[in-house]
Order: sequence, then structure tokens, then C-alpha cells
Amino acid sequence: MADILLDNVSFTYKNGYEAVSEVSLSIKQGEKVAILGQNGAGKTTTVKMINNLQRPTKGKVMVGDKNTKDYTTAQISKEVGYVFQNPDDQIFHATVMEEVAFGPRKALKLPEEEIKRRSERALELTGLAGQKDENPFELPLSIRKFVAIAAIIASDPDVYVFDEPTAGQDRAGLLTLNKIISELKEQGKTVITITHDIEFAIHTFERIIVMAKKKVIRDGTPEEIFHDDETLKKAMLKTPYAVRFARELELGETITTNEQLIEEIVRRG
Ligand SMILES: Nc1ncnc2c1ncn2[C@@H]1O[C@H](COP(=O)(O)OP(=O)(O)OP(=O)(O)O)[C@@H](O)[C@H]1O
Ligand SMILES: [Mg+2]
Repeated sequence: MADILLDNVSFTYKNGYEAVSEVSLSIKQGEKVAILGQNGAGKTTTVKMINNLQRPTKGKVMVGDKNTKDYTTAQISKEVGYVFQNPDDQIFHATVMEEVAFGPRKALKLPEEEIKRRSERALELTGLAGQKDENPFELPLSIRKFVAIAAIIASDPDVYVFDEPTAGQDRAGLLTLNKIISELKEQGKTVITITHDIEFAIHTFERIIVMAKKKVIRDGTPEEIFHDDETLKKAMLKTPYAVRFARELELGETITTNEQLIEEIVRRG
């Protein structure tokens, strides 16, 4: 089990562009965290440093007691599974099953029986059980995203990082994502998800980290974040409907979801 620590971390790309500047964060094992922020805020660059796909140019990243600079990406990936923003950067097998079994077979070198057990469980959880023999590249993008997620689930890391899993998902896809995240939470896994879907973030996560212009500008509960106008403005996040409505009706500073809004209206008669 691994807590995550980013200590004053910066990242500069080879062309000299600094994408992340002096970010400090700590995430405890078992937390469910959403990262929100505009395009280009530095979200993907930040999370890639957690699983060592990118190494900080300044500062340090700790995964449990491991300083990532002393380990390979393959070593850290066993503890931190990263699901790419674009599944086509991740998927390279000709069938869904082969893709999902790759981690347990090649990286973890597990016995065949365990590979099968894990792969089938991952396919079941992601709703792909009926598509295991299909070519992932012939499936729609929204489904390819679940193939990429299933592949990481089969590897069973302690920490999951999902990079915009909600993009392009319909209601059914969002419900499946919710189910996956709840199941991982029950298993004590850490789940870190980048998303542009504010409603999803509010409903699914207990902690929200807001990034803007290379930095973390706010870290708090959905209630704290979505009642903080200055943060929303800086990060160009929309004020949720329930928050606007609750303000109009002077229902208080804790309502962030439509369900809470309705409950409060009913309570007040
Ligand atoms: N390989 C690269 N070389 C140079 N600059 C890059 C590279 N990858 C990303 N950037 C730049 O770094 C900045 C941060 O990118 P990053 O992908 O971390 O943002 P993001 O918050 O994930 O955005 P999005 O919501 O669009 O995914 C952007 O301005 C981007 O153009
Ligand atoms: Mg990104």
C-alpha cells in the first residue's frame, strides 16, 4: 500500500516549456481524488510524474517509501496504474483479452490460472465480458477507454490514475465508471481521476484538487470548492446548477448536488 507525495515538483518539457511549477500534494492510500482544471493546466503532466512516465525536473515524488527517481517506470507502474487520456497511446494488442492479460502475463509474470481470473474479473467490472475476442481498434473510443481501464485493473495496482475517463462517455458509461471506482474504493485502492465533468467529480469524489496555470490552486471537499467563486473563476470552472439555485433561495453553503438541493427544499416545505 502506498501513499503519494509530490514535494515541490516542477516539470519542463524538452522544448523548454515548463508545464508544472512547484506543486506539492499528498494523497493517502484509499483516497478518492478528482483533479479539475482547464486544458493545458498541467494535469496530465502532473499525474504522469506519479507513475514515473515522467520524472520531475525539480522536486521529488514519493510512492510509499520509494523515491521515484531511484526506480524504473516499470517498477513504479506495478504500484501506480495510469490509464492514458487517449487509449490509443496504451492499447497495442489485437484482442481485448490479450490487451487485458498483458500486464499480469508479461509484467507480473503470474501463473496462467491467475491471469485468467484477473482478466475475467477486469472484463466483467468494465462491462467488456462479451467483447473479449474483439479487436480493440474496431471498437468505439468510449469502449476502447474501458479496455484501457480493464488492462490496468487486471494488473491490480494499489493506486489508480484515470486521465479523463469521462470524456465521450454517455450515461451508461458514466454509471460503469462509477461502479468501477466504488469497487476499487471498497478494496482500499487509491483512485485519482482527472475529469472535466463537474457533476461526476462532485458525485464520485470526496476530495477535489483544482489546477490552473501549472499549479494547484485549491484542494478541498466538493462543498468547499464549488462554493469558492474565486477558485472557480481562476480555473474557469462552471458553478454547478444546484449551487446557483441554493444561493438564489438562500439555502446555505453546503449544497452542491441536485439531490441535496431537492432534499433541502422538501425539508423546508
Ligand atoms: N511533449 C510536450 N512538449 C511540450 N509541451 C507539452 C508537451 N506535452 C504537453 N505540453 C504542454 O504542457 C502544458 C500542460 O499539458 P498537460 O497535458 O499536462 O495539460 P492538461 O491539464 O492535462 O490539459 P488537457 O485538459 O488538455 O488534457 C500544455 O500547455 C501543453 O501544450
Ligand atoms: Mg490532460
